[in-house]
Amino acid sequence: MADETITQQVSERYARAVTTGEQMCCPTGYNFDDLRAFVPEEVLRVSYGCGTPAGLATVQPGETVLDIGSGGGIDCFEAARRVGPSGRVIGIDMTDEMLAMARRNAPIVAKNLGYAAPNIEFRKGHAENLPVEDGTIDLIISNCVINLAPDKTKVFREMFRAIRPGGRFTISDIVADQPVPQYLIHDTQKWGDCLSGALPAWEYLGGLVQAGFLGVHQMKFSPWSVIDGIHFFSLTLTGYKLLDAAEPDETRFATLVGPFSRTVDELGQTYRRGKPEAVSARTAQLLKTPPFERLVLLSGQPISLATTDQRLISILPAEAPCVWKGHYAILAAPFAEAEDDDHHVYRRGVPLEICSKTLDVLDSGPYGRHFTIINRATEAVAGDEASCDPGGSCC
Ligand SMILES: C[S@@+](CC[C@H](N)C(=O)[O-])C[C@H]1O[C@@H](n2cnc3c(N)ncnc32)[C@H](O)[C@@H]1O
Repeated sequence: MADETITQQVSERYARAVTTGEQMCCPTGYNFDDLRAFVPEEVLRVSYGCGTPAGLATVQPGETVLDIGSGGGIDCFEAARRVGPSGRVIGIDMTDEMLAMARRNAPIVAKNLGYAAPNIEFRKGHAENLPVEDGTIDLIISNCVINLAPDKTKVFREMFRAIRPGGRFTISDIVADQPVPQYLIHDTQKWGDCLSGALPAWEYLGGLVQAGFLGVHQMKFSPWSVIDGIHFFSLTLTGYKLLDAAEPDETRFATLVGPFSRTVDELGQTYRRGKPEAVSARTAQLLKTPPFERLVLLSGQPISLATTDQRLISILPAEAPCVWKGHYAILAAPFAEAEDDDHHVYRRGVPLEICSKTLDVLDSGPYGRHFTIINRATEAVAGDEASCDPGGSCC
């Protein structure tokens, strides 16, 4: 299918959905009772997102927020509440029927919020060619849209162009644990279902870094669907466009505190737990953003941490049998690669099979937020105990 055909069919599908109110896509996690207080019911009925990019306390008062694929306007309206009357929200969508619904509700929402004038505007346009000036946006949000765009590289490039230096994105989207095969890609219905266009997680995360963003990491994960063994899930991701020139300050060194024993950042620099690394002003700028502040210690002088130092975080698996149950861990931390204390090496976005002991380590505590866990077993697993090395320790 040509890109234009996909785009046209996706648009027709969403145009129809406006009138039918068809239930589509995934659980978002919104508090609809809270939204009902200021967002009209017809907007809530056509909420087709797969996360809450505007509802994660990422939107700050006074900011200019851009929503790519704004649909009926739900995330724009939530963002409008959070930026306050001094902020501004721009929604972009390619489908006239969605734009009409969003535009008709914008003044109602502004009135419900007690604003003298609407701070929301909806523009017609494509994610691949955003109708906004360079470097004018503080925060880009998007909810289950980029998977629908045939050329994601273009979309990521456009996002980077539109965001101001020092700005960021928080987007929710559907990705897969492996490449989607051709027979699903060439299925019009499944494009509209946010499945056919899903990229493997490593390609999606890598694409954002290739476009220029850094510190790309997961904020939230929800399973969506399994088709022919392919796991589709929603990720809410944040990443940063750094300032061109970093403000000079005292930060010269970074010491990894854990829980990883070793990490490699998106620029190729390696960090080992407890050992100080000299960092550039640009890297220091990045390491001051969430969630790095929980992972590294920044300082003007090199700080080595002894293994007994209370600031170090190290998690070893329990002394228990190793049982393989079909679990796979997908790293979604702001690192290209990371290693745990059991010598598993995780590459961002790439599933790695793990046993029950490692699952317990990764599933909770300081590791939890950095991984997506899926289970590829389709039948009950025997659960035989295994030992993966001659010494009897874990794999
Ligand atoms: C799954 S809906 C999500 C709508 C909205 N973000 C929400 O959470 O309800 C996808 C929306 O993105 C729009 N869309 C899809 N591909 C697009 C593209 N390439 N450029 C602009 N809009 C697009 C569709 O018209 C539709 O309104």
